[in-house]
Amino acid sequence: MVNPELSLASRAVYYTPEEGTLSISYPIFMSANYQYADDTYDRIVDGARREVNIYSRCGNPNEYKLDDQMADIEGATSALSVASGMAAISHAVLGLLRTGDHIVVDLTTYSSTHEFFDHRIQDFGISVTFVDSTDVDSVRAALRDETKAIYVETIANPTMKVAPLRQLADLAHEHGIVVMCDNTFASPVVCRPHEHGVDIVLESATKFIGGHNDAVGGVISINSQILPADWLEQIRWNTLTKLGGALSPFNAWLLLRGIQTLPLRVERMTENAQRLVEWLAAHPKVRRVYYPGHESHPQHELAQAQLDLPGGMLSFSVGSEEEAATVCKRLKLASFAASLGGVRTVTQLPATMAFLDIPDEERQTMGITQGMIRVSAGIEKIDDLIADFAQALGE
Ligand SMILES: Cc1ncc(COP(=O)(O)O)c(C=O)c1O
Repeated sequence: MVNPELSLASRAVYYTPEEGTLSISYPIFMSANYQYADDTYDRIVDGARREVNIYSRCGNPNEYKLDDQMADIEGATSALSVASGMAAISHAVLGLLRTGDHIVVDLTTYSSTHEFFDHRIQDFGISVTFVDSTDVDSVRAALRDETKAIYVETIANPTMKVAPLRQLADLAHEHGIVVMCDNTFASPVVCRPHEHGVDIVLESATKFIGGHNDAVGGVISINSQILPADWLEQIRWNTLTKLGGALSPFNAWLLLRGIQTLPLRVERMTENAQRLVEWLAAHPKVRRVYYPGHESHPQHELAQAQLDLPGGMLSFSVGSEEEAATVCKRLKLASFAASLGGVRTVTQLPATMAFLDIPDEERQTMGITQGMIRVSAGIEKIDDLIADFAQALGE
């Protein structure tokens, strides 16, 4: 563990060179299989499974390095890195819940997460109640004897709704259950949900953590009075090695490299998002902006208290789906694409891209409208970005 008194930006770049080579960048171990040393067999039989390398699906040195660095920047007691953000969500949920259990889930989450809760886990006899988690009374009313967890996103995709993490954690802990929070839209630079009482944090590391649109990965971290301290090791051996969502060493290496510039990138992205939101809010063709840092945001006060920065994600709406698509297609500097959190500004149309498989009525309950454009602000020069949005909006 790096000196905990250092700031996040310093801890993100800190790395103790390995003995021997003293390489300042941690090496990549592209090996699926590891030979047993003289004492390996006996140590494994004695239970020391993480200290010895066995087989890359069970864990690998690059994944362990990423686990430790993620635990440090999340303020977690431990972390487990897996193949994707969805693997983090599914492995954590399937590791926690059993047939007959119940979970309360916010009704606005990433589309694949929503479908996972709406269909997949219900096939295994786990029941789900969808609520608006900003209304803590409705979360309380949804709790049952079989409820094991409350699931939210720190900043919800794509409406930017902010979950009241401390209130939800207090409620959950009163009932002896956990809060799980997808922190992807925030990243640990914008919010560290464990500091607000959240037990399990999930990240799609594909996004801000990697930051360059070149690696898919996910991370589960814990800091909980309710879960056993070795909960993630249990997930590793009982769920990850059985479901198989292991992270490749190369992707772990790329994501670890990404962490070093994460604070710097997110600060710049936030500056760009703030400037873009101000400009969009004053534009005659823009009907509404969705940004936790803007005074029009319904939880602006909560966002100011809970988020260190308002972050790099924003949405805005123009009249119709057709107009929104025209804007995205006309953009030149900003890319029209599915993912987010990278150095390049990206726009997406949630209703007709990520959330296309979700029925219109359900999308409307989530607050997703046809004319909505989601923007992941990149690190470009803001004047160039504003000029690009100006030409795309038809100025
Ligand atoms: C909020 C959120 N959570 C999770 C995921 C899934 O992450 P991955 O694509 O790495 O599986 C995404 C993907 O877009 C997302 O936006």
